[in-house]
Amino acid sequence: MKIAMGNDHSALELKNIIKEFVESMGHEVIDLGTNSTESCDYPIYGEKVGRAVASGEADLGIAICGTGLGISLAANKVKGIRACVCSEPYTARLSRLHNNANVLAFGSRVVGSELAKMIVETWLEAGFEGERHARRVQMIMDIEKREQNL
Ligand code: RB5
Repeated sequence: MKIAMGNDHSALELKNIIKEFVESMGHEVIDLGTNSTESCDYPIYGEKVGRAVASGEADLGIAICGTGLGISLAANKVKGIRACVCSEPYTARLSRLHNNANVLAFGSRVVGSELAKMIVETWLEAGFEGERHARRVQMIMDIEKREQNL
């Protein structure tokens, strides 16, 4: 798969560790930055990851900031994006099975690199279960449609 990755300054080191890990799993990484430790604004990178996934350039996205919160909020503003903050593998797995998450977010100041690898591995290996969950995910996407028509 093609995985879009984006991060702010706080998450550069973790991004590089996860990037290498994702590549070692046989995936291609589209690195959308930042590749600097200079303070920057996480919404820029959340939007970049969201747009790469929504346009089909990438199959899935991984977004990392200090907490995972700001960057996921930004990614979720892009139409079609379901970004979930996951700090452990159980939630990561369920975010794919039940919520069909297309962006995984987590915090460099929350999870260590080994836990982050487990979260990422679990997330990339899980798939959407569909059925009743498809109806619920559709209901979420319908909210997005109604908002755009306001
Ligand atoms: C940056 O200091 C920090 O606010 C950011 O990484 C993130 O945690 C925001 O949600």
